Amino acid sequence: MKSYEKLLLENKAWAQEMVEVDPNFFNKLEKIQSPEFLWIGCSDSRVPANQITGTAPGEVFVHRNIANLCIHSDVNMLSVLEYAVHHLRVKHVIVCGHYGCGGVRASMTHADYNIINKWLRHIKDVYRFHHDELEAIPSEDDRADRLVELNVIEQVQNLAKTSIIQKAWKKYDAPTIHGWVYRLHDGLLKPLSIMTPDSKVEDIYRYDV
Ligand code: CO
Repeated sequence: MKSYEKLLLENKAWAQEMVEVDPNFFNKLEKIQSPEFLWIGCSDSRVPANQITGTAPGEVFVHRNIANLCIHSDVNMLSVLEYAVHHLRVKHVIVCGHYGCGGVRASMTHADYNIINKWLRHIKDVYRFHHDELEAIPSEDDRADRLVELNVIEQVQNLAKTSIIQKAWKKYDAPTIHGWVYRLHDGLLKPLSIMTPDSKVEDIYRYDV
């Protein structure tokens, strides 16, 4: 059997199992999508949003990219954010990074990754913002771990700087934005930062919404 054929076979078994547990499982999901959470995570295959949070289909709206970046000119991320926040009306947005992130580690080197350079450049900027703190950490692994955390905190702030979030905060008094980090070593999530509709956004980034 080819590797991809196994996926199709597993899918049949899974669909059957779901129906056995709840005969209406797919009927219910087909009619409505009303997740409470938007997950913005890393594309890393070891950090699957649903599995590590014990959530089922229909519970989490998901966007993933290399190193869970929230870039204000990324139309893909912004469209997901707009749809999740203003149409699905999610109550929580979770930005989730992970220790051992290949994207973060790559951004700390001088290696040339062609077009990926342009993406990793945003993490290099985070490094520059926190240069003194990071350079004071002697171990490279510890420095990479801290950059993973600082990157998550920065992306949470990036979301709060968008007019999408600022409008939602004013209109719905939601969502809460969470910054979390996942440890591959033990499978545990750790909260790092949180921004609520009452949080202050630096003045220069505030819009008259
Ligand atoms: Co990663």
